[in-house]
Parts: sequence; C-alpha cells; structure tokens
Amino acid sequence: MEIKHNFSLRNLNTFDLPAISKRYATLKSTQDIHEFLKLYKANDELLILGGGSNILFTRDFDGTTVKIEIPGIHVVKEDQGYYWVKAGAGVNWNDFVESCIKADMGGVENLSLIPGAVGAAPVQNIGAYGVELKDVLEAVEAIEISTGERYYFRNHECRFGYRDSIFKNEYRDRFIITNVALRLRKSPVPNTSYGQIAEMLDTKGIKNPRIREVSDAVIQIRRSKLPDPEVMGNAGSFFKNPTITAEKFTDIKSSHPSISGFDQPDGKVKLSAAWLIDQCGLKGFTVGGAAVHDKQPLVIVNKNNATGLEILELANKVQSTILEKFQIQLEPEVRII
Ligand code: FAD
Ligand code: EPU
Repeated sequence: MEIKHNFSLRNLNTFDLPAISKRYATLKSTQDIHEFLKLYKANDELLILGGGSNILFTRDFDGTTVKIEIPGIHVVKEDQGYYWVKAGAGVNWNDFVESCIKADMGGVENLSLIPGAVGAAPVQNIGAYGVELKDVLEAVEAIEISTGERYYFRNHECRFGYRDSIFKNEYRDRFIITNVALRLRKSPVPNTSYGQIAEMLDTKGIKNPRIREVSDAVIQIRRSKLPDPEVMGNAGSFFKNPTITAEKFTDIKSSHPSISGFDQPDGKVKLSAAWLIDQCGLKGFTVGGAAVHDKQPLVIVNKNNATGLEILELANKVQSTILEKFQIQLEPEVRII
C-alpha cells in the first residue's frame, strides 16, 4: 500500500475530468485498508472511489482518495434453490454479472452493462429494467473508518430505496464496503416485466428467454441510447426520476396529455425526468463543452473538453428550467464533489 501525492483522477472518472487528488492510494485487500487506516488522520477529507461512474468533480480534491480494488468471486453457500455468492468490492460489476450468467445463476441479468464496481452497487442500490440490487442482495460487509472494525449489514439494514441506501446518507464516508453477498437462483426466473425488454424479445421471436437472452436484450437497448463513457464522458442518468402527488400528476396531464406516470405503492406517481427535460426543448443544449445528450436527455455528456463547473452549470440550468415550467425540483443522482 503506497500513498501517492497530487494524483490525477482523469482516468478514474467516467466524465473524463482532470481532477487532482492531494493524496491517493489503491487498496487491494482488507489488510491494505487496515494499514491505510493506521496512517489516515480523521480530519483529512476522504473519498472512497470505485469505478468513478457516478461522480462529478468540479474541483481538485484536497484530501485522500482511496480506490477499492478488492478482488474475488466465490460461492459461499448453496441450498436446493439458491447460491450465495460473495464478490469483492473491486470486482467490475458487469464482469460479475457476466460470470453469474455463465454459471446460470439468475437474478442480476437485468443489471447487465451498468458501469462501476461491486462495492458501489449497494451505495445507490443500482437498478435497471425492472430489477434493483436490493432484490438479490443478502448482506454488505464493510469496515468502519473511525474504528477499523468489520460490520455486516443485512438487506433490511441497508435501508434501500430508489437510488438510495444508508450508505448514501447517514453512513456516507463512514464505512468502506469490502464485499457484497448476493442470493442468486439455481433455476433462474427471467424478469421481462419492463416493456422495452418484452418488446425486444418479442421482435426476436423469443418466447421463453434464458437469462443470457434477457441480458443480450438489455445490452442492446442500453447501447442504443446510453453514450459509451469510453467515447463520450458521462455518468449515466444525471438526475433521479421525480415523484409527485397524484393530484399534481392529473394537473400536468391536463395541459400535457402525452406525459406518462408510474403509480408508486405510496399513492404517488413517478415521472420520467427525460420526458420533462425533452419537453423543455433542452435536448442538445450546451454550456461550454457540456451537453444534454440528444438520444437520452437525462444524461449529461462531456462533449468537448468540458470542465466540471460547466457540467454543473448545465445541470443547474436543467433544474431551474424544469422548476419554472413544471414546479418540480429534480434531484441529482450523481455525487458532486
Ligand atoms: P463511484 O462513482 O466510484 O462511487 C459512487 C459512490 O459510491 C460514491 O459516493 C463513492 O464514495 C461510493 N463508493 C464507491 N465504492 C465504495 C465502497 N467500496 N465503499 C463505500 N462507498 C463506496 N446506475 C444505475 O443504478 N442504473 C443504471 O442503469 C446505470 N447506468 C449507467 C450508465 C452509464 C453509461 C454510466 C456512466 C453510469 C450508469 N449508472 C447507472 C451509474 C453508475 O454506474 C452506478 O452508480 C455505479 O454503481 C457506480 O459505481 P462506481 O464504482 O463507478 O462508483
Ligand atoms: N424519454 C423522452 N425523451 C427521450 C428519451 C426518453 O421523453 O429522448 C422518456 C420516454 O418517455 C421513455 C422514458 O423517458 O419511456 C424512459 O427512458 P429510459 O427507459 O431510458 O429510462 P429512464 O427513466 O431515462 C431509468 C434509469 C436508468 C436505467 C433505465 C432502465 C433513473 C434515474 N434512470 O432511466 O438508470 O438504466 O431507467 O431501467 O432511474 C442511471 O441510473 O444512471 C441509469 C442510466
């Protein structure tokens, strides 16, 4: 474990922003973490980094960045119906999904091609195409930064919500997630509830899909609209989809009949933020080198050497426009540093 100084994070964030971290270390094992914590001073700002695919740097980082690279994927238990699989926080999420599909373990195939590391997946309860991590997560193993003690959080203790968990709130920057355990099916039950997946499988004439075919459909849909960060910097959806009251939804629908809403268990209605942004004519809108993506307006892209502050200014412009036109406050999904 070596602490480096004035380290460029450019290759470690998918917005491709040239932020410098005052100190930087790669931690490849729990032993590395313990060694690091002995040196770490509590008043130093700490940033825990996975794949950097949900972070916007608007400045250099005047503290210590630790990139978690704990490897390993192991089946730790099985019964007649399930495998319990433990994966290191540093495993690439999509590599993990791929290894589960190869082994015919069902439950994560709808989460194919989401960038980032396994350790960050519980932080915002990653989700896509009708599945969220919380549907398969058994437990999260983490080390408390202030004490070096190991903790286990069971599913209900993680307080998962839509793009939310305890690790994004009370426990943010208090724990380093080291391993994640998932419970996966031995006889997979493909989830094709998301309209676009059902349509894609139907177009291909696939009636009883295997998990590989569900994954292929997800990958095809994602590639058709989400920009590849290797080609154009971005962090996926910049904002969360907002939830409003049923009354407000009826009110907006009367003036905008094309709006779609998704009923929530608490009686509220979830809207498509992409639709709201599109309605405001913001597709392709730019601030400096930052742009609202023209295929998926919920994604802000680093189109032409944007600075983090330009991306932030564009995000603020999107928020203020939606607030003015619809009286809805969009909340960022991306962590802003
Ligand atoms: P980072 O960006 O490195 O970190 C994110 C947060 O987690 C930070 O607060 C960080 O401090 C914390 N963190 C990271 N690792 C640890 C750890 N070991 N312990 C404690 N805290 C940690 N997300 C979805 O939910 N669904 C999608 O469909 C989706 N599609 C995307 C598509 C694209 C093209 C891109 C670029 C992003 C997309 N995302 C999506 C967002 C992103 O992939 C996820 O949020 C992912 O989980 C972030 O992983 P990461 O390792 O890159 O996290
Ligand atoms: N839409 C428009 N105009 C457009 C594009 C989309 O109006 O140009 C509207 C359409 O009504 C469309 C709707 O947006 O039906 C939804 O688009 P999409 O299926 O891409 O879903 P999303 O709400 O934009 C969410 C997640 C994605 C996730 C997909 C699939 C959030 C914030 N985003 O996007 O997650 O992959 O659903 O489940 O919930 C991420 O979190 O980074 C992310 C990419």
